[in-house]
Amino acid sequence: MRGLAGKVAIVAGGARGIGAATARRLAEEGASVVIGDMLVDLARGVADSIVAAGGKAIAVDLDGTSAESQAAIVQSALDSFGRLDIYHSNLAGGTEGDIDALNCPIEVLEKSFAINTKSHFLATQAALPVLLENGGGAMLYTSSGAAANGAAWQVAYPMTKNSIHALARHVAQKWGKKGIRANVICPGLVLTEAASVHLTDEFREQGLKAIPHTRLGKSEDIAAAIAFLASEDGEWVNGQVWHVNGGTLKRD
Ligand SMILES: NC(=O)c1ccc[n+]([C@@H]2O[C@H](COP(=O)([O-])OP(=O)(O)OC[C@H]3O[C@@H](n4cnc5c(N)ncnc54)[C@H](O)[C@@H]3O)[C@@H](O)[C@H]2O)c1
Repeated sequence: MRGLAGKVAIVAGGARGIGAATARRLAEEGASVVIGDMLVDLARGVADSIVAAGGKAIAVDLDGTSAESQAAIVQSALDSFGRLDIYHSNLAGGTEGDIDALNCPIEVLEKSFAINTKSHFLATQAALPVLLENGGGAMLYTSSGAAANGAAWQVAYPMTKNSIHALARHVAQKWGKKGIRANVICPGLVLTEAASVHLTDEFREQGLKAIPHTRLGKSEDIAAAIAFLASEDGEWVNGQVWHVNGGTLKRD
């Protein structure tokens, strides 16, 4: 892909799954990667494997819900690699106890808000001034098909994920003229460690039946889309919400 070699990227929530695959893909394309996660030992393992393969990466302990921690990871990118060009805000969580609107405790909604909405806002506040100073850069956010498909069994996760779409459109509209691009990826069902824990064989079979494709998703499918949006090949894509899901959910 054009324009990733020599760039510096943060992948927040990059210790495993989609984030780890994205960190690896960006490094393969020649970017230096700062992997932030609260699972810092796993993040270190990903960084070590990138370095062993000849790439450049470090791991940083990140609490995405803290402004100080978000500022610190941006500073780590500047200290270790001298610049920042790409911030992929990928982390998510807080889905335990998230049932329907009548049964989801307020604490669960608040936790989901902190992880799935506030962290992306704080990431934007931390990274954007540096990207603007550079003359441009890419903000990328991982949302979910769940933000759009009206699940009956969950309320906080889709609500809080959907708010990211508004954030990205705001950033794109406000700072596009200054060289900032902000885009969202909504994965469909991707067989990561986190997703697999909740998947029964029956659910997996039903998912495969429902999808107009030969297989369910892999982390690398999402990483490829993120790398494209971060690269110069994606330079005219701004303020968009892309569904990468093998065709399960079709949107204009
Ligand atoms: N796997 C799927 O089927 C699927 C589908 C739709 C959307 N998504 C989205 O894709 C992204 C990655 O999903 P995944 O399946 O790889 O999940 P994952 O749980 O493996 O990845 C999320 C990462 O974020 C980290 N994290 C969570 N809260 C954090 C915090 N406060 N501070 C720092 N790190 C934190 C976790 O430790 C984890 O490493 C998430 O945003 C998820 O909502 C996944």
